[in-house]
Amino acid sequence: MAAGRRFLITGGSGFVGWNLVNFLKNRHEVAAGFYRNPVQIEGCRFLEMDITDRSRVLEAVRRIEPAVIIHAAALSSPDECEENRALTGDVNIAGTLNMLDAARECNCRMVYVSTDLVFDGESGNYSEASAPCPINYYGWSKLEGEKLCMQSAADALIVRITLQYGWGNGIRASGSDWLMKNIRAGSQVRLFTDQYRTMTYVMDTARGLELAALNGAPREMYHLTGPERVSRYAFGRAVASACKLPHHLLIKSRMADVPARAPRPRDVSLNGKKFLRRFSYQPRGITEGVAAMAQSEWVQGAKGSKVPKNGEC
Ligand SMILES: NC(=O)c1ccc[n+]([C@@H]2O[C@H](COP(=O)([O-])OP(=O)(O)OC[C@H]3O[C@@H](n4cnc5c(N)ncnc54)[C@H](OP(=O)(O)O)[C@@H]3O)[C@@H](O)[C@H]2O)c1
Repeated sequence: MAAGRRFLITGGSGFVGWNLVNFLKNRHEVAAGFYRNPVQIEGCRFLEMDITDRSRVLEAVRRIEPAVIIHAAALSSPDECEENRALTGDVNIAGTLNMLDAARECNCRMVYVSTDLVFDGESGNYSEASAPCPINYYGWSKLEGEKLCMQSAADALIVRITLQYGWGNGIRASGSDWLMKNIRAGSQVRLFTDQYRTMTYVMDTARGLELAALNGAPREMYHLTGPERVSRYAFGRAVASACKLPHHLLIKSRMADVPARAPRPRDVSLNGKKFLRRFSYQPRGITEGVAAMAQSEWVQGAKGSKVPKNGEC
């Protein structure tokens, strides 16, 4: 373990948390929480943690004494959140309040990982000054978590991240895992030509979250985003090219063709200028990011999956 700070990552068994732990583990001392899916990463301490259980959250944070909590645990599927609003409120709102209160009591910093889905997607290129207006329950619950951070006496700040790509840990497939699995299996993949995001390589997000955690200002909001606005279809083509997979299985589709429980915004591209100014850092563009992903060294992860070895790509 490199000399560094002590981090506690919630949602360490999730897609973002798992990659974040892999990135941070050689730079800092890292503890991470899981809820239903026990995982292990060599050199890190994993603990079972239900963020809705207030007293156990406090007890865990007191015991670990982190300098920084990166709060990445959440119910993150918009469709599931739409269907199960009570549980979503418990985890994404009450759970966030528990983490904030623990951070305040233990005098540690907290970075709240939020989402581009706090916006309605009508205009795109959203900056930190743009007014949020979520159109689904997931986005609404994450926005409520943001408000709690802003109101809390804890040393808390908010980083909104965009749709992520990278290797998942075998528990939940990332969008890029799903895409490659289908193409490799010879299955057609329908991708929207009318939904736009500024997608970000998850390892670049990990670096950005570290920078914000170490150098961000309390009660500030930052957009951590890749620099390019692309449709899901264009993204699929970039992944297929980088991984030397055929393009003919990628089928153009439109949002209206695929009914979903949760309404989906059209263009929640984020503007990352403030992050770049503040931290002199910008995640890679799609071509570079997917090339880094395709070339990253893999090791065996949970449930037989493969994950980047040191988070250094
Ligand atoms: N992935 C993206 O593209 C993306 C984009 C924008 C924002 N975000 C934000 O980034 C964060 C991480 O997202 P993700 O994609 O990594 O989500 P994910 O893969 O669905 O992982 C969710 C994590 O939350 C944990 N969790 C769920 N309920 C919990 C509870 N009651 N107590 C403690 N932990 C609980 C899960 O633990 P178990 O698996 O052990 O049950 C898992 O580790 C979220 O805050 C999300 O809003 C993600």
